[in-house]
Amino acid sequence: MPIRFTLGLLGVSFFVLTSMHREVFVPASPAAFTDSLQAERQKYIDKVKLAIKGKEQITVDSIFVNLQVLGGFPAENLVFAMDAWSKALGVSCSHCHRTDDFASDEKKQKSIARDMVNLGTMINEKLKTIDGLSKRPVVNCISCHRGTLKPALKLEVKN
Ligand code: HEC
Ligand code: HEC
Repeated sequence: MPIRFTLGLLGVSFFVLTSMHREVFVPASPAAFTDSLQAERQKYIDKVKLAIKGKEQITVDSIFVNLQVLGGFPAENLVFAMDAWSKALGVSCSHCHRTDDFASDEKKQKSIARDMVNLGTMINEKLKTIDGLSKRPVVNCISCHRGTLKPALKLEVKN
């Protein structure tokens, strides 16, 4: 993680390459955008980790004040879930949160995310009843979102 964080910081800046007597400015690669989101998320993850220091193993719902769909796992795992959701949608924490108050429900996207969790649970229950699938067929955020806010809404294959 610390290594990727450093790469993220480098990625958003411009590399100066000196070849012969010429200075060539190479703009940040497309991956740099992803890396800068990663760096921003890491900043908030570190903040949350600091806030729960010493209470990492306590059940998540007795540490955080406004959980309605998540619960029953150690508090330290919440940030992993949040990071995974963010990556699945290709966003930073601020897409769903007021980052000065993570418990706030001000952002519509946060309540949509709760509904999405419930949607996933419904689909997964249904999947269990379909005969002939693998042992544990599941959908999660990435099954539909694949790194973007809007899943494929049209039935066509993109390569
Ligand atoms: C796709 C939307 C979404 C993204 C992106 C997201 N979160 Fe969340 N977050 C939620 C939802 C929804 C809840 C409430 C879950 C519940 O009701 O059980 C939540 C809850 C939390 C809480 C608990 C607040 C409390 O006290 O109740 C923290 C802390 C938090 N998120 C941090 C983060 C961090 C840090 C990131 C970025 C790495 C992040 N979130 C990204 C949707 C999101
Ligand atoms: C079964 C497919 C499916 C799954 C699984 C799924 N989503 Fe979605 N999600 C959608 C669709 C479809 C939309 C609507 C896109 C649109 O507005 O046209 C959407 C929209 C959203 C939005 C609003 C988009 C925006 O512009 O902000 C959020 C936030 C979101 N999903 C979060 C999540 C999270 C978090 C998970 C996992 C817990 C998840 N979704 C799982 C299909 C899915």
